Amino acid sequence: MSPQSLTEPLLRWFADHGRDLPWRRTYDPYHVWISEVMLQQTQMERGVAYFERWLARLPDIASLAAADEEEVLRLWEGLGYYSRARNLVRTARRLVSEHHGRLPADHAALLALPGIGPYTAAAIMSLAFNAPYPLVDANVERLFARLFDVPTPVRECKPFFWEKAGELLPEDHARFFNQALMELGALICTPRNPACGRCPLVERCQAHRLGLVDARPVAAKPVRVTPIATANGVLMRDGRVFIQKRPASGVWANLWEFPGGRIEAGESAAAAVVREFREETGFTVTPLADLGPLKHTYTRYRITLHCFLVALAGRPTAPVLTAAQEYRWARPEELAGLAFPAPHRRLIELLHAGRHI
Ligand code: ADE
Repeated sequence: MSPQSLTEPLLRWFADHGRDLPWRRTYDPYHVWISEVMLQQTQMERGVAYFERWLARLPDIASLAAADEEEVLRLWEGLGYYSRARNLVRTARRLVSEHHGRLPADHAALLALPGIGPYTAAAIMSLAFNAPYPLVDANVERLFARLFDVPTPVRECKPFFWEKAGELLPEDHARFFNQALMELGALICTPRNPACGRCPLVERCQAHRLGLVDARPVAAKPVRVTPIATANGVLMRDGRVFIQKRPASGVWANLWEFPGGRIEAGESAAAAVVREFREETGFTVTPLADLGPLKHTYTRYRITLHCFLVALAGRPTAPVLTAAQEYRWARPEELAGLAFPAPHRRLIELLHAGRHI
């Protein structure tokens, strides 16, 4: 297949069918950067909603560089992989101090910035600056697995896909060509029931010719999902809620939470919440009410949080924190402005719904 033979039908299809996404109205480097980082591990519809809320508050690199990490984490809350948000702030500050407050149109300089890896650097170079860098996301991987009838799971042939994308890339049209490939994967060459009848590349598709579209991409072994059970406690005193801020590194770094942790083998959830409170805060608490289990699924973990309303058993003292960098007796209204992991935010909603706070 000659490279030229894909360009024209793809670009025409994208001009007619590409979605009107907010960053496509400007291709501003800041917009491209934020949207591409957000869309990693995030569905498009959700990504657009987060993007618009983000831009309303942080319209440019200068405002992001000047923002509190706390507020940025709150804007990111629910998207997960919070190191992405922390790296956005760090990079914005570096751009202000080292790059005149702009994203450089320089691939190597982009790669040197926190949180910018090969995908994001190529996205900024091609989409914002229209520079000839190929770009392969999960949509393009699926599309290529069919177009070239690749008989191995996509995660085993990533270098091949990037090489192919480079061969096919028209030098002067990287922005629209890369967008068109991703868009075709997202809208037509979908995981299930691809709309081959409307695909501008159907005549060039090897899996289609062989009747193998449904067998491509080859399924990888499913990821093993590990169940985890935790006990978490909401400690209230005088209308305030005890919360703690997690350490600056590790899982959920710098997010606020309700104390708790894994339930040990043979331990009841109520006993676990008492033990966890003692270990993490030095407080002795008594469970007052079982708020029920909350479930939350990540790629590799399925967490069940057994949530309790608890009370201090002894006299109030200052906590001795072993799993957090700071604590607060928060007013219920304050909770809306702080960043919590998704299941802890759901616990807050449960507390409001049950009129506990
Ligand atoms: N997925 C990730 N980035 C995208 C983009 N710019 N357009 C469509 N889908 C995408």
